Amino acid sequence: MSRSPRYQLLAAAALCATAFAVQAQDKGPIKVGLMLPATGTYAALGTAIENGFKLYVQEHGGKLGGRSIEYFKVDDESDPSKATENVNKLIKRDNVDVLIGTVHSGVALAMAKAAKDNNTLYINPNAGADAITGPMCAPNIVRSSFTNWQPGYAMGVAAAQKGYKTAMTITWNYAAGAEAVKGFTDGFEKGGGKVVKDLKLPFPNVEFQALLTEIASQKPDVTFAFFAGGGAVKFVKDYAAAGLRKTVPLVGSGFLTDGTLEAQGEAAQGLLTALHYADNLDTPRNNSFRKAYAVAYKMNPDVYAVQGYDAAQILNAGLTAAKGDLAKRDVITAAMRKVVVDSPRGKFTISPAGNPVQDIYLREVKGTENDTIGVAAKALADPARGCNLK
Ligand code: BEZ
Repeated sequence: MSRSPRYQLLAAAALCATAFAVQAQDKGPIKVGLMLPATGTYAALGTAIENGFKLYVQEHGGKLGGRSIEYFKVDDESDPSKATENVNKLIKRDNVDVLIGTVHSGVALAMAKAAKDNNTLYINPNAGADAITGPMCAPNIVRSSFTNWQPGYAMGVAAAQKGYKTAMTITWNYAAGAEAVKGFTDGFEKGGGKVVKDLKLPFPNVEFQALLTEIASQKPDVTFAFFAGGGAVKFVKDYAAAGLRKTVPLVGSGFLTDGTLEAQGEAAQGLLTALHYADNLDTPRNNSFRKAYAVAYKMNPDVYAVQGYDAAQILNAGLTAAKGDLAKRDVITAAMRKVVVDSPRGKFTISPAGNPVQDIYLREVKGTENDTIGVAAKALADPARGCNLK
């Protein structure tokens, strides 16, 4: 029986698709190394990232780029002193194809160095260390999150627009805190404000009392804070308990109130923060993501879950372009930069340095949600100082 040209074309396409699927299957699973904190002040952030990543994979039939996924895990404890040893467990012992991690900037700097030294694909789903997409940038390194500078800068712009003239900053003394403060200072001083004092304490210390007393005595117009996870819960409660909310308004990078609101309760109500995600973004993409996440994990997602989800999207873009063939490294790394990520946060692109170019929302805490009340910085790119990739 003779077949129409259209039938023959469809049959050939179906054959090709089957051949691709078989070929991809034959190569076995992609080995994904998850290096995240499972203990310590950032433990919940690590869980949310892993949940988000796995949700995207599940939504795609357990595969990325036609390849099934095998997970390898290390608890990095948010401890930079153990970071090189930990990342080498994934690279050298487990022979992973791609590294995903982590939360803490100090640990992620060691991951980025190891990824560069070993030419391992590396997607960073949180840690904002500016250097990773600055002087350390490399084609095999991409971030699905932010640089520490980005939300800090946007909050500085918004604080100056609100008419505050003087600010004090308070944070943990490590890369993330210092860079968030630098971003805030850049934005605030560009808008005519002046940062009068920076207060710091060692990570993950939560003895805030002496520093809160100093804020109370200096009475700046506003306090900017970078804290996250368990430390953020304690800081926001201590700030309110000290009676400071009435005299010195508190603002922050959005991590101060993300994934923390159930525990912060009344102390967080009305706080203004800046971040690249807000719970109430009323888009079909965000609504369906939030629903699927709540069904899968019996809890609401936060920014960390979004970043994990988007890390999987970026990996999928790379692997799909290479038809699941890891040997096509240049195809993978180029596609991971070219992708327009259809994120719950809104669509975003990736800069030549490997960092999201994204809207930073101004948010206000209402109940257990961070609700957007505007865009503090539109399509904000990190300056990527020291990166020579074009
Ligand atoms: C960081 O260390 O880069 C970081 C940790 C928690 C939230 C945001 C950034």
